[in-house]
Amino acid sequence: MPSEYRLILKYADQPGYTPDIECYLRHGGYDALKKALAFQPKSLPDGKTQSAQEQIRQEVMTSGLRGRGGAGFSCGLKWSFVDRKSGKPIYLICNADESEPGTFKDRQIIYKDPHQLIEGMIVSCFANDVHLAYIYIRGEFVGGAKILNRAIKEAKAKKILGKNILGTGYDLEMYVHRGAGAYICGEETGLIESLEGKRPYPRIKPPYFPAVLGLWMCPTIVNNVETLCNVKHIVALGGAEFAKLGTPNNTGTRIVSLSGHVKKPGYYEIEVGKVTIGELIHDPAFGGGLRDGRKLKAVIPGGSSAKVFKAGEKFKIKGKDVDMLDLPYDFDSLIQAGSMSGSSAIIVMDDSTDIVEALANISDFYAHESCGQCTPCREGSLWLNKALHRLTHGEGRAQDADYLVKIADNIPGGRTICAFGEACSWPVQSFVAKFKDEFIAKGATDEERRVKEAKVVGPGLEMKPAASQHA
Ligand SMILES: Cc1cc2nc3c(=O)[nH]c(=O)nc-3n(C[C@H](O)[C@H](O)[C@H](O)COP(=O)(O)O)c2cc1C
Ligand code: SF4
Repeated sequence: MPSEYRLILKYADQPGYTPDIECYLRHGGYDALKKALAFQPKSLPDGKTQSAQEQIRQEVMTSGLRGRGGAGFSCGLKWSFVDRKSGKPIYLICNADESEPGTFKDRQIIYKDPHQLIEGMIVSCFANDVHLAYIYIRGEFVGGAKILNRAIKEAKAKKILGKNILGTGYDLEMYVHRGAGAYICGEETGLIESLEGKRPYPRIKPPYFPAVLGLWMCPTIVNNVETLCNVKHIVALGGAEFAKLGTPNNTGTRIVSLSGHVKKPGYYEIEVGKVTIGELIHDPAFGGGLRDGRKLKAVIPGGSSAKVFKAGEKFKIKGKDVDMLDLPYDFDSLIQAGSMSGSSAIIVMDDSTDIVEALANISDFYAHESCGQCTPCREGSLWLNKALHRLTHGEGRAQDADYLVKIADNIPGGRTICAFGEACSWPVQSFVAKFKDEFIAKGATDEERRVKEAKVVGPGLEMKPAASQHA
């Protein structure tokens, strides 16, 4: 029987569990930090010495932890890229922007167990010789920012944060920075610009890889909230023990945000790869199935920018035909199936869904959120949105399906500064490819109706050019 495995959210929803430090300490809070700070330099067989910090970084590498913010990049590898020889300070930023539509996992930690994040951050900072860290939190999370500020104050009062942490001589300051509520502030270099007080224009990589040229042009680590919480558990369990959770190359747990047409939408923490998409949707331990009398139509498996799956779709995984519902929910299987687990947000659509309307809704978001630096993204996201707007407002054309794909194909692929180009194109490419008949039918119906209306009204007033004619 599939079931939840609560590591990060172990206590968050327990009755009586509160976000204050006393409660956290009663539940073993900051024990992992004490363990991390007590690591001693170790002599290696080759005669070299491994510092406490290097040992923790090694544990993180051994754990196989992959980033929970979207790309699923190895945390240990990311940390290994940090320029430690520049002589400049190293910063750590916790990405708490959580703006990907469908995603509502980080906020559970922030609101219900803020000290877990702070502990994960202090351990990560210690391991990376960081003395100044920021939590960049989405502007709308006013309550979350207050909770985190209170938690920081509490930690400082107990000498867990600030100067000479727990008498070890290690100093770390931590600040909460509220964004102004833009999706692009979640992109790590846009976030860094915003933190520096500027418009959140993403930086071009290379050369601006945060690990080398990040905040104030200093080496910077940007990690997601859930990723940083995991570091605490890696130290507590040991990297090798942590790696036993989940499946090979997809270790640990993930908090899945499940939304849409299921009976029990919500967040569920699972061992990565031990539960399938179908189980997440149908099992009573998770979504509990579709609404009564409904059939599955489509699933977006990793937040709104992930490519959509169509019900009944089959994929070749390790030489076998696998139904979409039987895909293990992990990083690699979803990539092999042509999509991604992204921010681990599953959006379920049943047969009541108008798929063109659904895509138009997603496209509204991306057209609004493009930062506008790159022409293909700025113009393309708007053109996509205009075409979808006319398709959903009686002004469509049968050829709009092809038109949408043509525009979407010309945005990503190295033409833009950041991955937003992909994020706004992938939904369009996949929705149209998999539900093309619905797009064509909608456009064709509009065309027929306009022809009929023109005949009634009389010559001279037939078919106006469609509202926007970029094609
Ligand atoms: C348009 C865009 C929006 C993003 N939004 C977020 C976000 O809200 N939260 C997040 O953690 N990562 C977000 N990311 C990914 C970050 O750029 C970065 O990869 C991530 O914070 C790294 O953390 P991780 O390695 O722990 O996953 C976004 C990326 C893009 C391209
Ligand atoms: S791809 Fe879009 S969001 Fe990213 S930098 Fe270019 S215009 Fe801005």
